[in-house]
Amino acid sequence: MVEFALPKNSRITGGKTWPKPAGASETREFKVYRWNPDDGKNPSTDTYFIDTHDCGPMVLDGLIWIKNNIDPTLTFRRSCREGVCGSCAMNIDGQNTLACTKSMHDVKDGAVKVNPLPHQPVVKDLVPDLTNFYAQYASIEPWLKTSTPTPQKEWRQSHEDREKLDGLYECILCACCSTSCPSYWWNSERFLGPAALLQATRWVKDSRDEATGERLDNLEDPFRLYNSSCPGLSRA
Ligand code: SF4
Ligand code: FES
Repeated sequence: MVEFALPKNSRITGGKTWPKPAGASETREFKVYRWNPDDGKNPSTDTYFIDTHDCGPMVLDGLIWIKNNIDPTLTFRRSCREGVCGSCAMNIDGQNTLACTKSMHDVKDGAVKVNPLPHQPVVKDLVPDLTNFYAQYASIEPWLKTSTPTPQKEWRQSHEDREKLDGLYECILCACCSTSCPSYWWNSERFLGPAALLQATRWVKDSRDEATGERLDNLEDPFRLYNSSCPGLSRA
């Protein structure tokens, strides 16, 4: 059953405004979602000011600056800092994106507003619980499946067949797409969502894979593959 009203304990209320950094000649305001599962309080939005002359240009640089200089309890994921690992995905200024590749200068008006990826349970602050997302990825069995004997060297593929995977293999599993999909919000237990379906397509199209029929059978479900409540499809 779809729940349209937010539970009371998920409503964002109040938040702390932290002092501007002393001596900073230029600052940028950040409004950041905070929630601590251990204090029993509702989520809040804290306001911070970063010293832009002491900080890199990306939103992730700003969050790291806040953590290092103002509030060490601020919690978020990050690893590569160059758009490769996908771990810093969050909602910035209303759009799901990677904090390490999003320049704070691209947020034109007012504060840089930072929230966790939408419609996922929150572990703490900007860290979403992606357990279901990863389980769905595992469910499409994202590895080469073969029945013929393993070749002496590698499984070979023509340049043309390899090119068929362009646009499919590059996904870094950041979850930005699936968590911005309304059908996924409403049926994420059953609908695989765009990221897992992209990965499923990647293995169906791989010329070396020998389990195409099995893979397609695995997708044969009215909810896993397609969701009739998709607002995009219903407009098409
Ligand atoms: S396909 Fe989705 S999960 Fe993969 S990189 Fe793109 S937005 Fe991220
Ligand atoms: S920190 Fe790896 S993609 Fe942003």
